[in-house]
Formats: sequence, C-alpha cells, structure tokens
Amino acid sequence: MRSLLCVPGSKLAMLQKAFGTSADQIIIDLEDSVTPLDKPLARENVEEFFRSLKTDKRVSIRLNERTSDEIKADRTLIRALRGGPLTSVILPKIHTLDDVRFWNRYLPREFSFEVQIESAMGLVNTAAIASHSRVHSLAFGPADFMASTGMPSSAPGTPSKEVPRALEYPLSEIVIAAHAYGKLAYDGPYFEIANQVGLSDSANTARALGADGKWAIHPDQISIINELFTPSEEEIETAQRIIDAFDNSSGAANFNGLMIDEASKKVAERLLERATRIHK
Ligand code: GLV
Ligand code: MG
Repeated sequence: MRSLLCVPGSKLAMLQKAFGTSADQIIIDLEDSVTPLDKPLARENVEEFFRSLKTDKRVSIRLNERTSDEIKADRTLIRALRGGPLTSVILPKIHTLDDVRFWNRYLPREFSFEVQIESAMGLVNTAAIASHSRVHSLAFGPADFMASTGMPSSAPGTPSKEVPRALEYPLSEIVIAAHAYGKLAYDGPYFEIANQVGLSDSANTARALGADGKWAIHPDQISIINELFTPSEEEIETAQRIIDAFDNSSGAANFNGLMIDEASKKVAERLLERATRIHK
C-alpha cells in the first residue's frame, strides 16, 4: 500500500467519498478524530455503510486504545463485521508486546493487526511488537509520539521548522523493526493539509528511509503520496541498467562512476519488485 486514507467514522459523507479516491487503503477511524460523544454514531455509520460496501480496496477500522471505555462497543462492531469487506484493524497506542497479545485474545481471528507505534514506550518495544505473528504492519503516529516524548512544535505532528529532521530517528527505527520481521512499515500522517511541499518532503523522507507508504488525512494528499511511493520510469530504468551492468561484470563494475557489486544489484532488484507489485 502506498497511501492509506484515514477518515472519521462519524462523517458519513467523507466515508462515502473516501472509497471513490485513489487511496490504496481506507482507514475508518473510531479513535482520535471522533469525539467521545460521536463514537456511538460512528459505529452505527460503519455498520450501516458496510451493509452495501463493495470495494477492491483494503479496508481497516481504527479502534480505541486498550485502556479506553470504548473497547467493548468496538469489539461488538468488529464481531458484527465478520465475513464482510473489513481486512484489518488498526490498533493505536501499542506500547508493548503484551498490548498485542491482549488484542489477539480480544478480537476475532480473521482480522490482521496494523499497529501504531506512537509513544516512547512503543518505540522501545518496536521489535518485539513487530515479531508477533498477527501483526501485518507498523505505522508511526507522529502527533502522539511528539506528545509522549515532549517534542515541541507549533504544528503538532510536524517537527519544528528549525529542526525538520527531528522525527527521522523514530520513523527509521519503526521501518527497520518492521522489515526485520518481514512486515510492512508506514509513515503516519502529515498534518499541515494545505502544505504540499511539506507533505512531499515528509513522504520523500519516509520512502528514503524504507517505508512502504504513508497515511493521508485529506483526499488532496493522496496523489502526492501515491506518486512519491511509486518507482518512477527513471528509477526503474536505472535499476535495470545496474542489474545488467553487474550481470555483465566479474563481480564488481564501474557504472557511470558508481562502484556496484552484489549489494547494489539487490537494491535494484528490490526496486523492480516494488514497481511490479504496484503496477500489476
Ligand atoms: C496519529 O495517530 C498520530 O498520533 O500522529
Ligand atoms: Mg495517534
């Protein structure tokens, strides 16, 4: 998945619109974008909406955190959605492997887990969390992470303008842990919805660090994310030429001034695999 669009479950019109966008995955939120008062309405909307939903997209619901009073009602909803288009649940604020084990016992077996790492404790335990067999992907939650670690910003969720790289380390740690266990890794949302340059920078950084995709919180963010997470023609061509140059060498070669070897070939192959997956 390149783009994962997160929409509040309480807003029916937004839900309907989301499925008409080019987002690869839709996340219907019951957590932070829905006020406590609106949570029952959000669950009713989702149940009603799923009765007629037909879609090729991956569909997920973000539940409330383990310690919240909402989780019984969330579980009742998830049970009612068995056998329909729901593919996974997003688990926010996962801090420990024990949190994953709790949800594993609590929720019906057929839905995989996509967990959000968004606290200092979660980051410390990322590898153990990624190792759980039911975990399909890890996603970064920059706003909650900034709150958890006391990172200052006048635009919570995005680093301060003076130190724009402040979130690279936690994201990188999440990407590495996810890939160590063969899971997918996603960057979280970019909160300045009118700032396309900022969004591009953030998505470019995430891709450079090895993330597979990025959350969107507004339909206008989807095309930028899809484009940046799709290998370009030029990248594909270069990867193919690196592979050819290596295959025609005796183990190492000079490719236009770049020294390439077996590892360079693997990087190129990984890019081609990604391009094939996305284009098919
Ligand atoms: C997303 O959940 C975030 O906290 O940024
Ligand atoms: Mg969060």
